[in-house]
Amino acid sequence: MGESILKGFSKYTKQQRIDALIQKYGFQEDLANWLESFENSDISIQKIIDDLSENPVSNFHLPFSIAPNFVVNGKNLFFPLVSEESSVVAALANAAGFWAKRGGFHAEVLGTEKKGQVHFIWNGNPEYLQSLFLEIRDKLFDESAYLTAKMEERGGGITGIELKSLPHIYPNYFQLDAGFETCDAMGANFINSCLEQFGKSLQNFFQTSEKISTGQRECEIIMAILSNYTPESRVRAWVECPIAKLLEGKSPLECELFARKFEQAIRIAQADVSRAVTHNKGIFNGIDALAVATGNDFRAIEACGHAFAARNGQYTGLTDVRIQDGKFYFSIELTLAVGVIGGVTAVHPLAKLAMQILDNPSAKELMMYLTVAGMASNFGAVKALVSVGIQQGHMKMHLSNIMNQLKIPEIHRHKIQEYFQDKTVSYSAVEEYWKNKRT
Ligand code: MEV
Repeated sequence: MGESILKGFSKYTKQQRIDALIQKYGFQEDLANWLESFENSDISIQKIIDDLSENPVSNFHLPFSIAPNFVVNGKNLFFPLVSEESSVVAALANAAGFWAKRGGFHAEVLGTEKKGQVHFIWNGNPEYLQSLFLEIRDKLFDESAYLTAKMEERGGGITGIELKSLPHIYPNYFQLDAGFETCDAMGANFINSCLEQFGKSLQNFFQTSEKISTGQRECEIIMAILSNYTPESRVRAWVECPIAKLLEGKSPLECELFARKFEQAIRIAQADVSRAVTHNKGIFNGIDALAVATGNDFRAIEACGHAFAARNGQYTGLTDVRIQDGKFYFSIELTLAVGVIGGVTAVHPLAKLAMQILDNPSAKELMMYLTVAGMASNFGAVKALVSVGIQQGHMKMHLSNIMNQLKIPEIHRHKIQEYFQDKTVSYSAVEEYWKNKRT
């Protein structure tokens, strides 16, 4: 029959959790030592890492990498990146160096408003409720003042609250749709606290106002939660250079051909969903790597970006290109919400270092850097795709991973790299070659 359900697992000690693993999967008894070898020798750091999640048994390592030469609005920065995909950092570093020689990246924040909703059911007339809304809104502002005072001191707070009647989604369904400014914080706790307070104030209004008839005092709050879709928290970034300067050591004709193919690739991503998803995945390769390094919630950033990509009813590529008067102009517009204070950013030692490497940016600056990372990653990918293809770069990284797996000593690696330069790289091909070399 089925296995017994483990109860209270979250209260187990680390050793008990590891014992449970050994018991269930038959791992060797020394699993604990092996798992411990991935942990930090400084117990205070290990405690910070353990506390980031629930039920940890060890640390899962990913490389913390650096892509230098990111010139953004004239400022020269190293970008800290965490990615498990080896070619991502290489693509970002190449694109950064490429554009550093051509004026760098330009970026501007177009807005920073975040959103959240209280979803509720009320069995009454929407127009009548709308006519009472100014009064309700004042009550919501007043009764959440204890939550907003500090944020207002920092220049943020609630930017607006609207009432929406949405019976096409559900009979008698309404939303309080609120906007927030959270300054340098991601603000999730602030927003959710305000929304939950709005829900209570709203119910209180229905229960106590003499303008509500006795039969309509019931207001059912379905949920109160921030939205990760933040269409008004928006960034634009761009690069530009003369077409003739697009490729080093190539003729103007070759540069023009490259620009044309690049433009075609962008147009295809804008029109075809199959290509758009991969195109945008390439953009998020860069954004996520910087978001993870700085302790930001990359799932929220991705979800928002993909929704923005479909804002006109069709999912499209997020970058754009214009070729005009001999100039190549490549740009991106993106919605994303990030924080630079609180959360993992303030706790994880490497996220803190990442922020220092970025010169302790404001939330607006980090929004621009993330957008630039996405654009750089996309430029690197599309540049490779329309010229040499991506396999050349990928295979170099793939070969290096295979050599690691086969534990090939460093002194032999260069020869193997040379040999595979014009051959298809696969685990079995490298294994075979290495076997023959040694016999
Ligand atoms: C691979 O991680 C990302 C690419 O597929 C992106 C793209 O095709 O644009 C190279």
